[in-house]
Amino acid sequence: MDTRTPIPCIGARSMPFDDAFLRDPYPTYKAWRDAEPVLWRDEAFQGAWILTRHADVEFALRDPRFSSQRTGGWVKRIAGADARPRRSRAQAALEDFQRMFARAMVFLDAPDHRRVRRAMAAGFHPSMVRALASQVEHLANELLDPLDARAGFDFIQAVARPLPSRVIGLVLGIDRRDEDEFVAWSEALATFIGALQPSLEQLGAARHALLQMVRYFDALVPLRRCAPGTDLVSRLVQAEAAGELRADGELAVQCAMLLFAGHETTRNLLGNGLHTLLSHRRQWDRLRAEPASMPAALREILRYDSPVQYTGRRVACQLTLHGHTLRRGDLVLAMIGAANRDPDRFADPDTFDIGRREGSHLSFGTGPHVCIGAGLALLEAEVTLRDVMRRWPALRLADSSPQWNGNAGLRGLARMTVHSES
Ligand code: HEM
Repeated sequence: MDTRTPIPCIGARSMPFDDAFLRDPYPTYKAWRDAEPVLWRDEAFQGAWILTRHADVEFALRDPRFSSQRTGGWVKRIAGADARPRRSRAQAALEDFQRMFARAMVFLDAPDHRRVRRAMAAGFHPSMVRALASQVEHLANELLDPLDARAGFDFIQAVARPLPSRVIGLVLGIDRRDEDEFVAWSEALATFIGALQPSLEQLGAARHALLQMVRYFDALVPLRRCAPGTDLVSRLVQAEAAGELRADGELAVQCAMLLFAGHETTRNLLGNGLHTLLSHRRQWDRLRAEPASMPAALREILRYDSPVQYTGRRVACQLTLHGHTLRRGDLVLAMIGAANRDPDRFADPDTFDIGRREGSHLSFGTGPHVCIGAGLALLEAEVTLRDVMRRWPALRLADSSPQWNGNAGLRGLARMTVHSES
């Protein structure tokens, strides 16, 4: 059955991806989940199936009938959005951007995916992450020390934005002086990728950013070849020499992807995490009283307000799901943010409870592409939130409605001022 018609009962004619949705998508997710487990939306990336139930999202992320090679759709969505004379120029730019980005591990299927992931995994082994703990602590304190909580400060700009890029810089062994550029490039990519209807300007900025990132790593690789260190780029250079990575720029694209994958996401874990705790005072107090509950609290923060709200797949092989025919080539949006609030998986899912023990959130994905940097992100969040709580036990939100970033995919705060009387 081809059922690609919008569902009338959830406001088919109204555009759901508006400001209210971007501020709080959870009521819309609930309406979708209650109406239809699999539904087609024309306005999402020029047409996509939306999965909102935990079991279905898990299935799509694990089953090989769903392919991760999805960057081709970017050409289609931009091409459809613009007038002819500009379209051809934009399309050429997009195709070259797409060809480059399509080589990043997150967009590969087996066997290439397995090969590249194996080469990258060495840099993210738990022992490597543990070895970084004191340096991450030092970087976090460097940012927290100068802050004056009595005067108030914007946690996003002061801490959540710079910390992840410094940490990834450490992992990759890149120069601190290049940090500002990396942050700007990561943001340009995140804005394009997270936009449901990206503009030509966003495409141009993202393409420029990726080119600059790749150029940066192309220049760094020969230096690491001559003088290897203990950083990830040096390891990847060795993997390339051993034939595990192709010697035609595959390495530089993976490094560029890491900057992007680890920066925006971790920033939003820090921001969403502090925002959620400060908006649930009893949970904040409970965590202060039971600091050993931090890992459980982070799991619940990730479930309750996931930094990654959805990821995409393409149907590689026609299949039927809940009575709908998903045809080869169709785009599927696995709505992680909705799955994490599925009442079939989590009791009372809209309640934030750091004592929750059931279910497993999907915020780091699952299956072959499960987040390779999860341990690093958790380390950054644990260190930072613990230090913030210790320094300012009476910390408050200065503004009850802080500014969200307007990104449907990479949900986070653009600004969040906090202050403390003591
Ligand atoms: C809170 C922070 C983070 C969140 C919520 C997050 C979330 C995710 C998700 C949902 C996926 C799966 C994507 C898919 O299946 O399509 C993923 C994959 C990935 N993440 Fe993360 N991530 C975070 C931090 C990081 C960090 C710090 C790094 C590295 C420095 C990183 C690197 C990656 C990479 C390379 C992949 C692709 C893995 C593969 O394709 O095999 N992530 N992440």
